[in-house]
Parts: sequence; C-alpha cells; structure tokens
Amino acid sequence: MTNDAEPVTREPLNAHTPAAALAERVTPTRAFYVRNHFPMPKVDAASWRLRLPGREVALADLRAMPQRSLEVVLECAGNGRTRMSPLPPGTPWGERAVACAGFSGVPLRDLLPPLPPGTRELLFVGADEGEAHGKSMAYERSLPVERALHPDTLVVLAMNGEPLTPEHGAPARLLVPGWYGMASVKWLVEVRALREPFRGFYQAEHYVYREQRGGAPDAPVTTTRVKSLIAEPREGAQVRVGARVRVAGHAWSGAAAIRKVEVSDDGGRTWSAARLESPASPYAWTPWTFDWTPARPGRIALLARATDAAGNAQPLEAPWNALGYGNHECAHVDVDAR
Ligand code: MTE
Repeated sequence: MTNDAEPVTREPLNAHTPAAALAERVTPTRAFYVRNHFPMPKVDAASWRLRLPGREVALADLRAMPQRSLEVVLECAGNGRTRMSPLPPGTPWGERAVACAGFSGVPLRDLLPPLPPGTRELLFVGADEGEAHGKSMAYERSLPVERALHPDTLVVLAMNGEPLTPEHGAPARLLVPGWYGMASVKWLVEVRALREPFRGFYQAEHYVYREQRGGAPDAPVTTTRVKSLIAEPREGAQVRVGARVRVAGHAWSGAAAIRKVEVSDDGGRTWSAARLESPASPYAWTPWTFDWTPARPGRIALLARATDAAGNAQPLEAPWNALGYGNHECAHVDVDAR
C-alpha cells in the first residue's frame, strides 16, 4: 500500500477514507478513498497521449494551458451500500467512500475542436481493463454533451497541489463536479464523440437506479444526492451527561448549495439547527458544528440531516434499489453517555 486509505478489497484496490481524515476540510491525498473496478494500469506519463476527436495532446501540452482549480467532494455511488436491506450486490462499502480535495486541470471544452454535427454524448475511456461478468472491457463512461462542455468539467492533472497519484488516475483523469464519482474516469486516454447514447457495461448495467419492485425502467445515476457525515464525536465515543459535546461534520449536495444541517438525539422526532461555515467552492463540502449536551445516560444515537437550497433533504432510512446506489440516509453515530 502506498496509501493510508483503509482497504475494503485489495485486488482490485478499493479503500475507505479513514474516519479521522473525514474531520478535515481538505482530505489529504494519501487518505482519499480509492475506487477501482480493475487492477490499476501502469501509464507512462512521457509517452501518454490523450486522443480527442480530431487531435492528440501530450501532458506537456496540457500543462502549458490555463489551469482551473476547484475544491470538489467526490463520493462513490455505492457509498453506504451495506446499510441497505436486503444487501444489494457490489463492493461492500461502509460510509466512508467519500472525500473532498482540491483538483486542478484544464476545462475539457478548452481542448476540444468543434464537435461533429449531431454529437449527443462524449465517451471517456480509461487505460484500465479487465473482465467483468465474463466479458473483457475497459472502464468507459459517457456524458451528455452539455455536461461534458460545462466549464467545470476538467481534465485533472493535480490533486491537493501535487501531480495526480497512480491510485487517483495519473497522469490525467476526468472530473465531473457534482456527479457521483463513477463519472470521473481515471487514467483517461481517449475522448470520443457519439451520436447515440452509450450503452456500455458501466453505463447501462452498472450505475443505474434499478427498482425491481415496481418494474420501473432503470434511471441513470448522475448528480450526488444531498448528504452529511458526522466526523465528531466518533462511533462509540464516551460522553458525560450534562457536559457540552462538540458535534461536527460536513454536508454536500450535487444539486444545490447546502441550506441547513440539523441534529437529533431522539431518533428524528425533534431537530436542532447546526451552524454552517461557507464551503471553499460550490462543489466542496460545507463544514457544520453543533453544541450538544447529553441529558440522559445510556446509548444515544446522534443523527444529522442536511437540506439543500433546492429543498432536497436526507431521509431517515436508506432508499433501497437493486444495485445499492445513492444511499443518502441521515448520518448517525452511537455514543455512550455516562
Ligand atoms: N476510472 C477508471 N478508469 N476506472 C475505475 O474503476 N472508478 C470510478 C471513477 N473513475 C474508476 C474510474 C469510480 S466508481 C469512482 S467512485 C471514482 O473513480 C473514484 O475515484 P478515486 O479512486 O480517485 O477516489
């Protein structure tokens, strides 16, 4: 391991952000969660080229262009899957497949020549490949043209002020702020213009909300749902009845700014507003704190519920779907009051 993230699976490497790192506004790169479908490819930065419709660029070309920097929360769509019941298939993520870092790179639209008429989507191809469900494939995902050409959709070269590390997609990855992490293709080697919607495995068979109960058609997983985490106190912490406890965490939403975070110590019957700090960028998470005084001894579940400016709020219970995506239930920690 060249990394402090905590493995969930080793080959391919999938690893949680350590709990202590979630208290920080900016997650150190070494602690940032890692999500890989295949073994990590070895990409030689010197010979690497990004193939674009009608042209190719080298790393030096990208470095010579104006860079855009943004602080961005990245969350795996499968984060919190193990809280769903019955347990859906897939990597058994707890609740720490999320982190927030500073990214910089070149807006994709600054790299693209005029697109062929009729282009509806852009396809992004990673250098990693392997077997999934008996088929050999690369990691490939598409974006609607409007989203791909958004000025904040970046071809990222650096994370927290340093060149990208192999785990996070060196030498260059896509970054789609506000969307679940699956859209941000690592080890990016090719961008293709498509006239038809892409139906590849990681687009049509994975990363879809599949209900299976009502027989509703699959819906694509896109924008990150409103969510919060409690970084302090930690799970199982001991607190004193009558003594003030600092409760702190972060909240984020891909749809709109965070408008409020509330805390409950009675299972969600009553809620009190937390104090919010400003996020470092519209895509960074919003730090929040709350002064809480435990009133009774025993095991107490603390809950946090974020609401965004579009009115989206976290539900008390995990919204179930067959592949286990988008669990944005209220954050919770159990503490022991004495
Ligand atoms: N890109 C490639 N090429 N291969 C992958 O397996 N995983 C995706 C995305 N990009 C993936 C990828 C998923 S599901 C997530 S959540 C993010 O990368 C995770 O990025 P990180 O490992 O830098 O945290």
